Parts: sequence; C-alpha cells; structure tokens
Amino acid sequence: MTLVLGIESSCDETAAALVTDERRILAQRIASQDAEHAPYGGVVPEIAARAHVLRLAPLIAATLADAGLALADVDAVAATAGPGLIGGVMVGLVTAKALAMAADKPLIAINHLEGHALSPRLADATLEYPYLLLLASGGHCQLLRVAGVGQYQRLATTIDDALGEAFDKSAKILGLGYPGGPAVERLAARGNPRAVPLPRPLLGAEEPHFSFAGLKSAVLRAAEAQVHAPEDIAASFQAAAIDCVRDRTARAITSAGPVNALVMAGGVAANQAMRAALARLAAREGLRFVAPPLALCTDNAAMIGWAGIERLVLGQVSDLEVAARPRWPLDPDAEPARGAGVKA
Ligand code: KG4
Ligand code: ZN
Repeated sequence: MTLVLGIESSCDETAAALVTDERRILAQRIASQDAEHAPYGGVVPEIAARAHVLRLAPLIAATLADAGLALADVDAVAATAGPGLIGGVMVGLVTAKALAMAADKPLIAINHLEGHALSPRLADATLEYPYLLLLASGGHCQLLRVAGVGQYQRLATTIDDALGEAFDKSAKILGLGYPGGPAVERLAARGNPRAVPLPRPLLGAEEPHFSFAGLKSAVLRAAEAQVHAPEDIAASFQAAAIDCVRDRTARAITSAGPVNALVMAGGVAANQAMRAALARLAAREGLRFVAPPLALCTDNAAMIGWAGIERLVLGQVSDLEVAARPRWPLDPDAEPARGAGVKA
C-alpha cells in the first residue's frame, strides 16, 4: 500500500488527509474559515493566512491520530503549491517541506486545479483517461481535455467571472451571505426558474469561452427593481447559468475528440441542478457522466493526496526548493482568452 499525506491551504479551508493508492481515505479533516470571513462577504487573504498558520499543524496531527498512524508511516507528503492566495499556499507548502525534511519523505507539490481535475478518479476507479472536464470553482471555469497526469488541454475558460464567483456575487446581491453557492441553490429550489428574464451570455457563440459578468449584472438590476421575489431571482439565475454551462459544454464535446466521459469537478459541481443538467447532456451525447461526491467537490485535502498518489506512482516528486505560485495554469500553452477581466 502506498500512503500519501495531502495538505490543502490555498483559500479558506485548512485541510489534511491520508489517501492510499487503493483509493481509500484513511482520515481527513477540514477546518472551514466561513465564520471568520462571513462578516466581510468574501475571503480576506490576510485573515485566511493567519488562520492556516494557527490551525494546520494541529490539524495534521489530529488527522494522523484519527488513522492511528505516524508521519513515519506515510510514503510522501503532497501539498497545494498554487494557484491560490499566496499567504495560505505558503503556509501549507512550507509545512509540507518541513514534514518531508524531518521524516525524510519525498515532497510532491500539487497544482490545486490538478487536485480538482483528478478528484473524480479518486471516487471512481473505472474512470480512465482521456476525459472532458468541466472545472468550475470560485476562481475558475474551464473546459479541459484531461489525457493523463499533467496532460491538460484547455478548450475554454471564462473571459470574466468564474462560475462559482457568479454564484457568490449573486448570493451577495440577494443578501444570502457567504459562501454563496449553496445558499443560492437552496433558495433557487423554492423559486420559479422562468420568472425573471435573464441573459445567457455567449449562448450559441462560435467562440468556445464562458462569460458570466453580464448575468451577474442582470441579477443586480433585477434585485434593485424589487419586482421579483428573491427565490425567483435565485432560481432564474441558476437556470441561466446552467443553460450557459450546458451550451458551452456541448460545444466542447464536439471539439474535444474522443473521450471516455464527461466529468465535472470543483466547488460548483456540488450543485445538484448543475449535475443533473450535465448528466442529461452526457446521456444525450452517449457519454458517461462522472462527478465526485459532494465532499470531494469543494476544497479538500483528499484530492491533493490523491493527485500526490498519481504523481508518486509515476515517480514524479518535487525538489524541496519548489516555490509557491499565486498563478499556475494547468495548460500553459493555451492561447490567452480575450475579455474584460480574464483570469486564466
Ligand atoms: O473548489 P472550491 O471549494 O474552491 C475554489 O477553489 O474556488 O469552490 C468554491 C466555489 C464557491 O464559489 C462556491 O460558492 C461554489 O464553489 N459552490 C457552489 C455550491 N457549492 C459550492 N456553487 C453552486 N452550488 C453549490 N451547491
Ligand atoms: Zn478549489
């Protein structure tokens, strides 16, 4: 058995997990910082970094204790080395370096997006490369052809807001607090998705990319007009977002070449309506649909540990000098997307 300790600290979750090459999560702990950031309606980087400093070491000790294991029992230490809020990334990576050095174990620096991208393979042993991946989180919205570990071809990205960001901003507009995605989904379940006419940016466009900024602005105008009930705005927003995602993904299916499955990962993959819509699209296209269980969609350390396993079995370990990276595209060769606020 190969055992990797995974560490995640790139945003507002401090997390550690012990993952085996047999896809077993022996223990995992996640400390959420929601309470610290809630008063500000979003993640405050300095508060996040300080919270990681305070929590990470005891959290790792507790995770090892949960499994009845010691650091000497792990085969490698894998940690998120970017992209993300640099203070938090540094806390996790430096901690991983110290543990690796102290225990004389290999260090594996993981791209957080690779953690999301490979997480479906942790949950599903039958998922083989290549697959078409919709990676939708608070900071990213991309369609990628995943051909293997480290082999990512970006087919589309957002030219402005990420999908999770659109959920978070809509939640803020509707006064739902932070984090916004789950709150919008809960409210939307009680509303009429056809009540509020909202735009579907880039629907049917030849260009492959996503755009959500116009949708978010329309949500703001609808809320300010005070004509519609908040649950109807939430439901209409979610329906519009799903229409956009379905359309862009359908386009990518035709351009991706042969793939074994349509896969969704990242925090927004926790959204049941989104999952259902993509499952229907995949069925229509004769593709299998795979999405990890909800706890593996939002940020966690098991996905980092699993990415570590995938790299370790290929002999791909990192130098102890490896640096934390605030930006780290999965596909560095992708053509830059043109847009107002392009992030990746
Ligand atoms: O992957 P993740 O945990 O962190 C990042 O790497 O960004 O994704 C967090 C994002 C947030 O924008 C959050 O609002 C969104 O995922 N999210 C959801 C749901 N759960 C989380 N969006 C829609 N519906 C959900 N149920
Ligand atoms: Zn994430």
